[in-house]
Amino acid sequence: MARTTTGTAAPRGFRSAEHGWPELHRIPHPPRRLPLLGDVLGANRSTPLQDSLKFGRMLGPIYRRKAFNREFVFVWGTELAADLADETRFAKHVGLGIANLRPVAGDGLFTAYNHEPNWQLAHDVLAPGFSREAMAAYHPMMLAVAERLTDHWDRETAADRAVDVPGDMTKLTLETIARTGFGHDFGSFERDRPHPFITAMVGTLTYAQRLNTVPWPGLLREAARRNEADMAYLNRTVDELVQERRTASGGGDGDLLDRMLETAHPETGERLSAQNVRRQVITFLVAGHETTSGALSFALHYLSRHPDVAARARAEVDRVWGDTAVPGYDQVAKLRYVRRVLDESLRLWPTAPAFAREALEDTVLAGRHPMRRGAWTLVLTPMLHRDPEVWGADAERFDPDRFDPKAVRTRAPHAFKPWGTGARACIGRQFALHEATLVLGLLLRRYELGADPDYRLRVTERLTLMPEGLRLRLKRRQGSATARPATAPAADEEAPVSEPRCPVHGAGD
Ligand code: HEM
Repeated sequence: MARTTTGTAAPRGFRSAEHGWPELHRIPHPPRRLPLLGDVLGANRSTPLQDSLKFGRMLGPIYRRKAFNREFVFVWGTELAADLADETRFAKHVGLGIANLRPVAGDGLFTAYNHEPNWQLAHDVLAPGFSREAMAAYHPMMLAVAERLTDHWDRETAADRAVDVPGDMTKLTLETIARTGFGHDFGSFERDRPHPFITAMVGTLTYAQRLNTVPWPGLLREAARRNEADMAYLNRTVDELVQERRTASGGGDGDLLDRMLETAHPETGERLSAQNVRRQVITFLVAGHETTSGALSFALHYLSRHPDVAARARAEVDRVWGDTAVPGYDQVAKLRYVRRVLDESLRLWPTAPAFAREALEDTVLAGRHPMRRGAWTLVLTPMLHRDPEVWGADAERFDPDRFDPKAVRTRAPHAFKPWGTGARACIGRQFALHEATLVLGLLLRRYELGADPDYRLRVTERLTLMPEGLRLRLKRRQGSATARPATAPAADEEAPVSEPRCPVHGAGD
């Protein structure tokens, strides 16, 4: 039997804060709380995360909000977040939006409760799919998908049209995970409208988010019917994909789907059940593209607004890749400055913007806030990443040098958490970083990025974050991707390429 992350199950079901936090009265809440309604006045149902940031700024590093009969505690101060990272006293809490995804993703890796044995089983079976060797095998497929993007952008640019950044990044990242993980082609770049898989996925994510903001799910009856149809579509698509593989002769060269179908747990010999495979495929198709597409989109937004940063990043690409027509796997991790651009974009807009932690025992958070076993809180990463005590008074300013190795070394631990924390941190982190760095490198090398001066960043929320309506005008660079000799890398580019670490055993925060 596979192990679980926490041993025994914590209490199930929604736990309102008053049951778990004996000294809740010491945690501030918004003014003008109303009986029955709580703190919902002025709340915007389509941007709950940005609402929470507003309250965070107003109320400080720990605060609470009540929506109807349910009360939540939010945390963003670095000291508190660092204490919550202690895996001996806290673990992932599956609640709110994540629990709302259980009807479609069940005990798949992202939505599994800590006590469900399928979490450890799937983690152990799938983690090698994110090893250095596996990533190197995905690299040529990532390049092939990126080429479809640049073909499309070349055509748009030749026709003097601005490109739809979030739309095209979503096509790119969906095709990348579908191809590398499952040998599947959704044909996204050949379609004018998003693939129905994307439409169904967005529907399901949006519904899961909306469920958090209504007092009774019955109020969303019509939306619930649409959600049933969306889930049925997602299931059908995945079942076809699995069936194709089962009947194909060649298999997928050890891709994620092969691992799901063929690999037994190295110690117990257990395999994933057919139902669990379905849930994992949906999990990876969704988790494997939605957040990376947002991260790439925010990075392109900032690059277009900071020509000095774009010029420095482009100079690095030219220097490190030289006249190599097709960058090799090892040449991607050497783009240290491009990686800093990504980190800084993920600092300001971590595209999975919160994670929840629950107490494994009765404990006291940061020595001040008692919590009973099973009590939980939501860590707001966009606020954590703007904590002025760590990031300074200019925390809102985009500055990739915050991720200069020296700055990273001297910063408080656990101040940067776009990948979550501990055993349940993102398994796809190295995958996302490799894909996004490669794509940014290719785009910087090929195009000048022209921002629309009238565009003001608006962020849409569907559990993940995305810049809304971002379009860029591109110009093909003259003589790009050719004839620049590869020179010696600058000193800070010589750090060894880090091995992807298992998020559990390498604890790679
Ligand atoms: C920029 C891109 C990404 C970001 C910001 C991101 C962020 C996160 C975060 C914050 C968590 C932890 C959630 C929690 O504690 O509740 C997580 C978990 C997860 N991510 Fe990612 N992710 C990204 C890309 C990916 C990719 C590319 C994949 C797959 C190829 C992936 C697969 C997963 C899975 C399966 C989990 C659940 C892990 C577990 O609980 O064992 N993610 N991710």
